[in-house]
Amino acid sequence: MNKFPLIFSLLTLNLLFSQHLLASNELCSPFSCNQHRYDPIQFPFWVPKNQTSRCGYPGFDVSCNSYGQTLIPLNSGHGHLIIEGMSYPDQLLWVSDPKKCIPKRVLDFTHTWPALLRFGPLESTYTYLNCSGTKLDPSVLPMGTSVISCMSGSNHTVVAAFDHEAETKMLERGGERKCEVIERVNAAFWWPEMRYGYEYRHGDEYRHGYYPIDDLSNVFVQLGWDIPSCGDCILRGGSCGLVGDSGIEVACYIPASSSSERMERRWK
Ligand SMILES: *[C@@H]1O[C@H](CO)[C@@H](O)[C@H](O)[C@H]1NC(C)=O
Ligand SMILES: *[C@@H]1O[C@H](CO)[C@@H](O)[C@H](O)[C@H]1NC(C)=O
Ligand SMILES: *[C@@H]1O[C@H](CO)[C@@H](O)[C@H](O)[C@H]1NC(C)=O
Repeated sequence: MNKFPLIFSLLTLNLLFSQHLLASNELCSPFSCNQHRYDPIQFPFWVPKNQTSRCGYPGFDVSCNSYGQTLIPLNSGHGHLIIEGMSYPDQLLWVSDPKKCIPKRVLDFTHTWPALLRFGPLESTYTYLNCSGTKLDPSVLPMGTSVISCMSGSNHTVVAAFDHEAETKMLERGGERKCEVIERVNAAFWWPEMRYGYEYRHGDEYRHGYYPIDDLSNVFVQLGWDIPSCGDCILRGGSCGLVGDSGIEVACYIPASSSSERMERRWK
């Protein structure tokens, strides 16, 4: 397992061509749970029901449901998440929770989420707070906080604070509206209005801006993977695949004629 990254980087550097790889690439055309999607399932992801195991990397198996959604399994018995978007050059996924309570899933991240995935570059610390009293209206909360309605009840409201300042303001609330910290979790929550451009630097770290979102219950989470690392290969117009009939050696295949044309298309 240890020497794998080295083998892999040598292969990408030399753009080693492999006859076996070509053969497996031909068998493994991208698959889609929904023909209208712009981001078909391709290596390292694969669909066991419809493709052979040589089409994907171990641990990256996904499935389709009857609504044409792509599902990624959580560890045994914990259900699955919906893949809402994939970027192969960036090695990123955006997932949502079919039960519409992704902050709750994030609390369990370390125990139940796919081991090969980590949070994406928008990762940040969120403080989950439990505030007593009748339901809090998002409009009375300080900047940098969101209600998590799916974890709230009639006599308590769970609130996420996006940074230390917001957390402090929530903890200063007294009396019947008192808040307690449930847990501080690292996550990369994402929603459509939360654009990359809103990131800002704070000292040595990147932070989110304050985007108004009233309720964090049903947002997306950004996930990334490091191995296999095929982003560069894809940017060069190539595609990755497993080499040969066994093992997990990965190679990048770049068609000689089309690579420059494909790259131009991406950067236009
Ligand atoms: C994928 O496999 C499932 C189960 O074998 C089958 O019902 C479905 O039609 C297949 N989809 C495609 C597009 O081949
Ligand atoms: C929040 O506190 C209430 C009691 O005030 C409790 O019933 C509830 O389980 C707590 N929720 C969480 C997520 O800790
Ligand atoms: C909420 O508080 C009210 C008043 O104290 C009480 O009657 C009610 O049973 C509580 N509801 C829940 C779900 O705990």
